[in-house]
Amino acid sequence: MTQPIGIGLAGFGTVGAGVYKNLTANGDLLTQRLGARFAVRRIAVRDLKKRREVSAPAEIFTTNTDDLISDPDIRIVIELMGGIETPLAFVKKAIAAGKIVITGNKALLAEHGQEIFRLAREKRVPVFYEAAVAGGIPIIKIVRESFVGNRFESIHGILNGTSNYILSRMTDTGMDFAPALAEAQQLGYAEADPALDINGWDAAHKAIILASLAYGFWLDPAEIFVAGIESVTAADIRFASELGYSIKLLATIKAGGGNAIEVRVCPTLIPKQHVLASVHGVFNAIAVRGDVVGETLFYGRGAGQDPTSSSVLGDLAEAACAVESPRFCYGFTSHDLYGKCQPTAEAVSKYYLRLSVKDQPGVLAQIAGALGDSGIGILSVIQPESLVEDSVPLVLMIHDAPFGAMQKASEKIAGLGCVKDTPALLHVETFS
Ligand code: NAP
Ligand code: HSE
Repeated sequence: MTQPIGIGLAGFGTVGAGVYKNLTANGDLLTQRLGARFAVRRIAVRDLKKRREVSAPAEIFTTNTDDLISDPDIRIVIELMGGIETPLAFVKKAIAAGKIVITGNKALLAEHGQEIFRLAREKRVPVFYEAAVAGGIPIIKIVRESFVGNRFESIHGILNGTSNYILSRMTDTGMDFAPALAEAQQLGYAEADPALDINGWDAAHKAIILASLAYGFWLDPAEIFVAGIESVTAADIRFASELGYSIKLLATIKAGGGNAIEVRVCPTLIPKQHVLASVHGVFNAIAVRGDVVGETLFYGRGAGQDPTSSSVLGDLAEAACAVESPRFCYGFTSHDLYGKCQPTAEAVSKYYLRLSVKDQPGVLAQIAGALGDSGIGILSVIQPESLVEDSVPLVLMIHDAPFGAMQKASEKIAGLGCVKDTPALLHVETFS
């Protein structure tokens, strides 16, 4: 048996402790399958005194991540600290020192992937990041390797376990937003700062990684449309259901015209009969359509200690192979078939528009007129019976229209005297 491969673990929270626990539990199995042994040499944390549910030898803990870089016996570092600035400095130092890097940090990669993969290529050091997207689902390997012979026509994903959990609880039990979020935090699904889960940016970071990998250029986060679930109300969930739809925080990535792609992450109505509509709780799912393979679907737990650790263990196995024989894949390869995002305002979609209007004659004509003036057609209208003070809800399903034109029409409608409150405007995806 060869010498164990030394590991430096930066972070011993939900995921880091899970990696240590599962590596300890299944280390022998990994050794038999890979012919390699692993030994965690150092663990970096913020607070040495914190009580931990998973125990590891006290002498290997440190608060200085540089101790992992300077240890010559550490060949692989695993970054599971969260945040951006500290992990960025750590990953850059690790690459410069020739250490193989594994990270689950989607925010880091979405913001700095271009720089990190350039350094990795220059230093010929692989960077693995399976845990960064969709928890336990091995979607990075699938997009990067299994479907390498495909042009990607579309990728649709439910990519945030926390928001899917919250929407599911609100839908199934009528629970309010705040207690559903508290449950997701308790279960270890949410980020240290749950704002990223709620405002759509955690899913957007994952969408940026997937889209960059699939379309061969690193996306600029400023170029995609992102909205979170905080504005989705119990009424929207109910009206959507009456119309035959579920509301999901959906990442939509599509090859568009020219060399542009369309990327948006937002609460979206999807037909109840579509398979993604039955993805509930912490589960994630990604539907990938390739020109060779056709339609495919990947499903699993998108967050939590064990599913995420499973992806890190998969990366460790690949890293062990890279230790044995250096490989040409550094984690991301660019190509020039695509190269830009379609401007958000030009992207065409169907929409759901919920208004609160005065209960008086002529209202519908005014709204239809405002839409018609912008060249936007109505697919259907429902006026559910629920009078609150002197206003009633009015729900319109809108024909395909550019998002910019739809937003302007919605603002115009908001200014009509018969319309109360801010309109709720959501995308509708029909997967055609
Ligand atoms: P977490 O529970 O908050 O754990 C973070 C760990 O990093 C803690 O052990 C903390 O130390 C340590 N740490 C933070 N800053 C540090 C610093 N400056 N120096 C040394 N150690 C530091 O976070 P998590 O949920 O495990 O997530 C870790 C990463 O995995 C994040 O990038 C997250 O986005 C990603 N991820 C999480 C999940 C999930 O389900 N939770 C799934 C996929 C990916 P202390 O313990 O002393 O505070
Ligand atoms: N906070 C993330 C989620 C963790 O809820 O999906 C997994 O990336």
